[in-house]
Amino acid sequence: MKNKTKCAILGIGRLGYWHAINAATRIQNVEVAAIFDIDLTRAEQVARELEIPKFTSNEEDIFQDDSIEAVIIATPTSTHYELLKKASLANKKIFVEKPLTIDLQEAEEITSLLDKNNTYCQLGFMRRYDPAYAEAKRRILAGDIGKPLYFKGISRDPDCPHEAFIKNSGGIFVDVSIHDFDIARYLFDSEITKVSANGKVLKHPFVEKYQDVDQALSYIEFESGAAGDVEASRNAYYGYDIRAEIIGSEGTIVVGDNLQMHNLHIYTKAGKTHDILPHFPERFVDAYNLELVDFFARLREGRPAPVTAYDGLKALKVACAARTSYLTQKPVSLVEETTASTRN
Ligand SMILES: NC(=O)c1ccc[n+]([C@@H]2O[C@H](COP(=O)([O-])OP(=O)(O)OC[C@H]3O[C@@H](n4cnc5c(N)ncnc54)[C@H](O)[C@@H]3O)[C@@H](O)[C@H]2O)c1
Repeated sequence: MKNKTKCAILGIGRLGYWHAINAATRIQNVEVAAIFDIDLTRAEQVARELEIPKFTSNEEDIFQDDSIEAVIIATPTSTHYELLKKASLANKKIFVEKPLTIDLQEAEEITSLLDKNNTYCQLGFMRRYDPAYAEAKRRILAGDIGKPLYFKGISRDPDCPHEAFIKNSGGIFVDVSIHDFDIARYLFDSEITKVSANGKVLKHPFVEKYQDVDQALSYIEFESGAAGDVEASRNAYYGYDIRAEIIGSEGTIVVGDNLQMHNLHIYTKAGKTHDILPHFPERFVDAYNLELVDFFARLREGRPAPVTAYDGLKALKVACAARTSYLTQKPVSLVEETTASTRN
């Protein structure tokens, strides 16, 4: 049996922390050798909690350490480009959170660089690993609903992330709707060719500073002739609400219409109630683990990445087109150039 694969986690915030827990405690033959975060106190705290030997606020300590084979990038999206570049040049195998980068030009550049260096790079589009979405894909391929005609995606966060996150996120289309754009093109096996988007600030006025909205709707058209719509929201006070519907010529598949966290109901004189999934770590607990299990298995077995930088680039193109459409109030064809920069 080969030695454990040594990896480092870059960025130990909301999601990096869960990746660290999965890699350090739930996945066999993996060792988290180091943590890098600009916040050294946070890095030290998590390193101590998970018994990770090294923590640093200097990324070079990771890239210059030849014993580290793989990196998991979960820093703010605006930092992905630089870290991807350095990781590729340092010959590391990469798992990078979505979106690939915050900016299209950066995404084009990085995709070429990764290609040129033959770097393994897997994108964190974890919905592809969620058991329900994965089953939807299998059922579509099996022909159970005939030809996919219409995609409906709903992605509602219970609240707005903190301001530094919003500033470095690329905005709601790039940060949230990108999940639906990716899963839609994956499930329909067809590229999105046209987007019309709109949005509004309903609850979190500070996002306006970043030309962002907290409620968005994108109408999409596919090369196959199919169509769809994608709602993104930061206003689901009741919980984390992720749903999809794939309407086919002979049936429909509904993903995620049961928002319960536990299979439990409470009966009182006020009525019958159940809990609701609070946020992404609970809703996608399996998917976050499965995507990393697959990442490390593929590294060991020398198999190619199943979700690539190219997928990241394609989804980002749709997201930037949606942002452009919202800003210009005009539909955007994906064969045209998109102009909106998402760098603040
Ligand atoms: N796949 C998903 O469902 C999902 C969910 C949440 C976040 N994400 C993605 O994960 C990434 C991180 O998001 P988050 O919610 O964990 O953010 P976060 O703000 O909670 O955490 C970011 C972490 O990075 C650190 N950091 C900030 N600037 C840094 C820098 N220059 N170098 C190193 N570390 C730095 C911060 O100290 C913090 O610990 C984003 O790209 C986001 O889009 C994906």
